[in-house]
Amino acid sequence: MRVSGLASLALAVAPALATSTRGTLGFSLGDKNADGTCKSTSDYEADFDNLKDLTTLVRTYSGTECDTPQNILPAAKSKGFKVVLGIWVGAQDSGDLSTNDASFTKDFAALKEAVPGYEDYVEAITVGSETLYRGDQTGPSLHNYIGLVANQFKSISVGTADSWNKFADGTADDLFTRDTTDAPLVTYVLANAFAYWQGTAADQAYKTYFDDMSGAMEHIQKVAGSNADKIHILNGETGWPTDGGSDYEAAKAGTANAETFWQTGVCGMLAWGVDLFYFEAFDESWKPDSVGDNGQAMDEKHWGLRTASRQDKFNTTCSN
Ligand SMILES: *[C@@H]1O[C@H](CO)[C@@H](O)[C@H](O)[C@H]1NC(C)=O
Repeated sequence: MRVSGLASLALAVAPALATSTRGTLGFSLGDKNADGTCKSTSDYEADFDNLKDLTTLVRTYSGTECDTPQNILPAAKSKGFKVVLGIWVGAQDSGDLSTNDASFTKDFAALKEAVPGYEDYVEAITVGSETLYRGDQTGPSLHNYIGLVANQFKSISVGTADSWNKFADGTADDLFTRDTTDAPLVTYVLANAFAYWQGTAADQAYKTYFDDMSGAMEHIQKVAGSNADKIHILNGETGWPTDGGSDYEAAKAGTANAETFWQTGVCGMLAWGVDLFYFEAFDESWKPDSVGDNGQAMDEKHWGLRTASRQDKFNTTCSN
């Protein structure tokens, strides 16, 4: 979306300033079943049947892991869903800005096979997921990869997903300043924003979330100049772990806290008119613990809005 009236951003948390168009809710969707096996087309169809009361839009991450594009696109077609497909980009080899990343090459090739004939069910393609945040890529090298994909899939929006602060602090500026033409190559931008990982208490987290997204959107629109209207900026991931999840500083896992963040943060962001992907649709029970930025083991199994058996954990109807 294009944020109009930047001066009002500081007040964006006030529901009275909500734009007339409500944002679109989508979901991050894992490519494995609860037992760790890869999802088949019928597994995705069951996911879509379950989610259709909330959305018809999901995002995925890999072009090759679990053959995600091949398996999900027929399900999207049969159930009337749209999918954001991902191409994974790894660490840049030895300073060479050419297209030498093995993950990119593999995933790009897989999408060239899987997408033709299913273009109507592809919402967008993201090239790289938090590559700038990890320092694996630079603005120019990532722009180079995105350009290759955009030139291959001319009818599909192409862009990237990264942490909100990499858009706000200028790390990503090359994505928006290198195309001086009227047809920028980077047209779909997912800014991930987890107040949880910023260690914010659940009842205050919506403020952090709004600040993050405001900062990312305002900066991108400023540097993109006359191309800003052609760039669709969304929140690529947000979420909150429920009971059984791990705490992170003042951010406490728990179903009641997740419901608080859902109502104030997620519903509030949609009311403001920003499209977003909730991370994630379903618990991923197969996932091993990860190590957080604080060095502690972090549970990764309880981020779903719904359980692994696709049951609601709380009332997800937005009250605004
Ligand atoms: C869920 O929340 C909505 C909005 O606040 C309310 O109208 C509805 O009655 C609730 N449903 C249940 C089952 O509590």
